[in-house]
Formats: sequence, structure tokens, C-alpha cells
Amino acid sequence: NAVAAADPRLRGKRVVVTAGGTREALDPVRYLGNRSSGKQGIAVALAARAAGAEVTLIAAHVEVALPQGIDLVQVESALELQAAAQSASSTADVLVMAAAVADFRPDHTEGAKIKKRDDSADPVITLVRNPDILAGLVADRNAAGRRQLIVGFAAETGDDRGGVLDYARAKLERKGCDLLVVNQVGPGAGGQELTFGQDSNEVLILDRDGSEPLAALGTKQEVANAVMARIAEKLGVEN
Ligand code: CTP
Ligand code: CA
Repeated sequence: NAVAAADPRLRGKRVVVTAGGTREALDPVRYLGNRSSGKQGIAVALAARAAGAEVTLIAAHVEVALPQGIDLVQVESALELQAAAQSASSTADVLVMAAAVADFRPDHTEGAKIKKRDDSADPVITLVRNPDILAGLVADRNAAGRRQLIVGFAAETGDDRGGVLDYARAKLERKGCDLLVVNQVGPGAGGQELTFGQDSNEVLILDRDGSEPLAALGTKQEVANAVMARIAEKLGVEN
């Protein structure tokens, strides 16, 4: 399209973006979910397309309309998202993990709807850990010796043991990704996080190469454009 032609920084590059919040099924009608709207991830996919890339969007549950004209894979659970991301990323130049992946899932999914019964105890849900998809994809890339830029997203809060930046740097190291886009979350009215569902965002883009964190502030689309600009710059440096 016209936008892609005007801005060809990522022409010929394959970009895979995950977005939205995973849902972990308890039974055929119930799930454990999270408040991710998917807006930031979708904005990243649009920014990549505007930069001329060939984009695959892997979407878990999102609260907004999915973009037209982008190769789309819809998933529900973390395990489904992992399978889709593994298969799409084998040929990707860039992988952006903007999805809010559930850290835990129920240890089993009931085949039939869970019933209330007067003659038995109330149910207890046992959770098991989901795989760390991002760390796994970094390991896959390294094992294959692939040239691939991998970008994580994180929402962090500081506490008495460290600031947002300390936790973010530690997470970047732990995950092994190239860039980590961090937003500082604070409690909002009613105990909800300020950034969920909002149209604007304030982030720091951390780089594993140790260079100064880059601040980006604005609408989620402006933040996505700044992330994509940094990605394009990194690809340029590495090519
Ligand atoms: N992520 C992932 N697989 C998971 C959890 C998270 O791939 N099971 C990815 C997210 O998509 C994001 C990044 O890892 O890009 C950071 O997510 P975050 O929840 O901040 O990291 P966690 O390792 O789960 O740490 P925390 O205990 O702070 O939630
Ligand atoms: Ca997590």
C-alpha cells in the first residue's frame, strides 16, 4: 500500500508479532484470563506493515478489532500461542512478543461444565506453570544459529528491593532477548492497572547491548512506531 511504499525500512523482512491475552480453559465455558487489550501488539503489527515488512500477527484474545490485510493466526491458550509462534518464527527476521501470556494454567480442563453440587466439596483449581515462550524462542534461535531479532514486552513495578529499571534489566538478561520494551505500571482507580486498555503508553526500550534505554511516550501507535524504528536501526546495524 501507499504507506509501505513511502517507508520501506523493513521491506523484504518477515516480522511475527504476538498480541492480546491468553485464555486458559477450566471447562468448555470458563477460562482464566487477563486484562490485556491487545492494542499495543496490534499497533506494532501495523507499524511493521507500514515499514514495508511482511507481517504475521498471532492474536490471543483482544478487546479491539483485528486489523484487515495482515496474515492472522488466532489462538486461545499459552500452549496454542507457543505452537503458532514456534512455527511462524522459523523463517522470521523479527519476532515481537507483545502478548500477555498466562504464567499458569489449570492442571487439567474439565471435559464437561463444572457443576455446583450440594453433596461434595467446592472445587479447588490447581495451577501449573506455562512454558516461557519467549525464552524458548531465544533458545531455539540460538541453537539454530539463526539471525533473528527478538523483542519482549514487560510491565514492571518497582518495590523496596529495586526500581523498575533494575527489574527490567534482570528480566532482559533472564529472557535473552535483544530488546525489552518496558512500561511502568501503577495502581489506578479501582485497583486496575493504568495502562490496560488505554490508548497511550510510556515505555523504555532496553537493549541487551547495554546502550542507554530509549524513552518513548505517546499513543500506543506512536510507541509502536518508536519500537519499530529501533528494530529497523538494529537490523541495519547487523546487516
Ligand atoms: N512471556 C512468554 N511466556 C510466558 C510469560 C511471558 O513468552 N510464559 C513473554 C511475554 O510475552 C513478554 C515477556 O515474556 O514479552 C515478559 O513477560 P512478563 O510477564 O513480564 O515476564 P515473566 O517472565 O512472566 O515475569 P513475571 O513473573 O514478572 O510475570
Ligand atoms: Ca508473567
